[in-house]
Amino acid sequence: MQTRTLGTQGLTTSAIGYGSMGISFAYGAADAAGGSSAIQRAYDLGVTFFDTAEMYGWGENEKVVGQAVKGFRDEVVVATKFGFTRDYGFDSRPEHIREVVENSLRYLSMDHIDVLYQHRVDPNVPIEDVAGTVKELIDAGKVKYFGLSEAGPETMRRAHAVQPVSVLQTEYSLFERDVEVLFPTLNELGIGFVPYSPLGRGFLTGTTKLASEYEEADMRSWDARWQPGNFEKNVEATRQLTELAATKDATVAQLALAWLLAQGEHIVPIPGSRSAKRVEENIGAARLTLTAADLTRIKEILPTGGFGSRYPEGMNPNWH
Ligand SMILES: NC(=O)c1ccc[n+]([C@@H]2O[C@H](COP(=O)([O-])OP(=O)(O)OC[C@H]3O[C@@H](n4cnc5c(N)ncnc54)[C@H](OP(=O)(O)O)[C@@H]3O)[C@@H](O)[C@H]2O)c1
Repeated sequence: MQTRTLGTQGLTTSAIGYGSMGISFAYGAADAAGGSSAIQRAYDLGVTFFDTAEMYGWGENEKVVGQAVKGFRDEVVVATKFGFTRDYGFDSRPEHIREVVENSLRYLSMDHIDVLYQHRVDPNVPIEDVAGTVKELIDAGKVKYFGLSEAGPETMRRAHAVQPVSVLQTEYSLFERDVEVLFPTLNELGIGFVPYSPLGRGFLTGTTKLASEYEEADMRSWDARWQPGNFEKNVEATRQLTELAATKDATVAQLALAWLLAQGEHIVPIPGSRSAKRVEENIGAARLTLTAADLTRIKEILPTGGFGSRYPEGMNPNWH
């Protein structure tokens, strides 16, 4: 698999990474065994970038990832995140960051974290204090690179002045384009970009179901993109994208990931799956080249993204 460089501090990863959230969070019952075999398959096929977070099961997800990458730990980049409280509030106080990092190192069974992200900007803690704390952790050898998630231009700029930011992670897919307004800042500061939920939380795979068919613990049971009115339009767009993908002997998931890769050399999507077979399919996107005509057709199908807000009112991050 090709590699890509994120930021200007030396962070290099496979062009497609792997997101582990769904192994234990957001999409129904946990599946550690499926997740472990998916991670192994991803590595076998050249993936060197694995994404987890404290919040995905409060250590459970990090334990699965740590165990699964044990045999090849030094060959891969492992990213984790701090900044949520157990009731989904924010906490990026320096003492909390230090505590979470010690826990993450223990859960992951590692002596350092490659990429440490602030999961959400904490309005009660100046970003300079967050960046300064991460800098201390980098100086101590516990962390290698600094990342932000769902941060805006001003926050990135202020953080970057204290500790260079290598990467921003935010939702981005054929359905979610808002983050494109941040690309000029990323280019100016030389920050890489990791699109999360690059398959539209599974919608852009053609295997989605009605909201009512997901279990309660699956966020797609309440996600606006699955609600009547939006759902049918998103299904129709996915059908047209699937038709286009078929003309290229590809699946719609591969088309969705190849589209992201075509948006810039600084972009590394991290699709998630608990299935080794689907991981194999997703990684196939790295071999799919989209022509100018393909990109034009995609623009006709979804000029500005899908239908329905990605988070409910009040949960949408503010990009300052
Ligand atoms: N920074 C943040 O705030 C944030 C937020 C959300 C996510 N993330 C990160 O981004 C990663 C990816 O996002 P995501 O997991 O939300 O969404 P995603 O990658 O867009 O979609 C994942 C869903 O798609 C299904 N899927 C994947 N490949 C498939 C295929 N080829 N065919 C059919 N179904 C397929 C998976 O089901 P199966 O498991 O059954 O295959 C899963 O339900 C996460 O794992 C996490 O690491 C970060």
